[in-house]
Amino acid sequence: MAAKIIDGKATAQRIRAEIATATERLAAEFGVQPTLAAILVGDDPASAIYVRRKGEHTQEVGMRSLSFKLPSEISETELLDLIDRLNGDAGVHGILVQLPLPAHIDRGRVLSGIDPNKDVDGFHIVNAGKLAVGAPAIVPCTPLGCMLLLSEQLGNLEGLHAVVVGCSTIVGRPMAELLLQARCTVSIAHIHTRDLPDIVAQADILVVAAGAPGLVRGSWIKQGAVVIDVGINRILCPETGKARIVGDVRFNEAAPVASAITPVPGGVGPMTIACLLKNTLAAAELACRDRLGSSGTRAA
Ligand code: GUN
Repeated sequence: MAAKIIDGKATAQRIRAEIATATERLAAEFGVQPTLAAILVGDDPASAIYVRRKGEHTQEVGMRSLSFKLPSEISETELLDLIDRLNGDAGVHGILVQLPLPAHIDRGRVLSGIDPNKDVDGFHIVNAGKLAVGAPAIVPCTPLGCMLLLSEQLGNLEGLHAVVVGCSTIVGRPMAELLLQARCTVSIAHIHTRDLPDIVAQADILVVAAGAPGLVRGSWIKQGAVVIDVGINRILCPETGKARIVGDVRFNEAAPVASAITPVPGGVGPMTIACLLKNTLAAAELACRDRLGSSGTRAA
């Protein structure tokens, strides 16, 4: 039987509608408009598209979007100064620095400069540490989106064997932590794993975030597995000579074997921005609660 195609676009749309309602409520109750500041350094075209799309979606749900476009030659100190200003601005609830950064800027120092309560990407070492020990944390957007799709698909994940292919701090590692919290048995593999097909074959849940187009073959996948393909790779199609987007899993081979699978595009991608908005809303709600807690009364 052919796999169910998991429609991430539809789920993301539903989440955005819920966020729009909650955003209106926050404005009515607290007079607060959740605000997301996005910082783009340099002129990488893909990053520029992602940041523009994040800004558009932010405004569509009724939030305020601030965008800072900085030249690639900017110094790390100047970037950290901007982050400091945004940290100190009570009207800004979420801050994201689009990655990758130019080589002369230390990514770790920059991400650690963001106030952990405004770190809506969930990349700050404090949020990564909290996630690792199972404490409440802001969770990176793509793994959070994958978990929402898996829960929608499978309900309870307890006891299932999940294999994560990819070990980045943005997707693979936090994904493994979330699956562990959901009581899965978790294996983490990557492109250097020697017996990758054998490990993939054990997966009831397979999440592939290796950044390697078409890495996973259909013949590796266990019958009935749920497959989440995080890969977004632009390749040149030899037949047409045109660029197209493909995942890390060979969709046409995997679909007849899996019970459900995300397409690329239209699977995980739309969930990432929806979860960024979810994290921004949560950060704004936390700021409102803190304000309420410290004054004892609701601010006008
Ligand atoms: N670059 C690739 N993915 C991401 C992401 O989720 N957040 C940021 N800030 N940069 C990225």
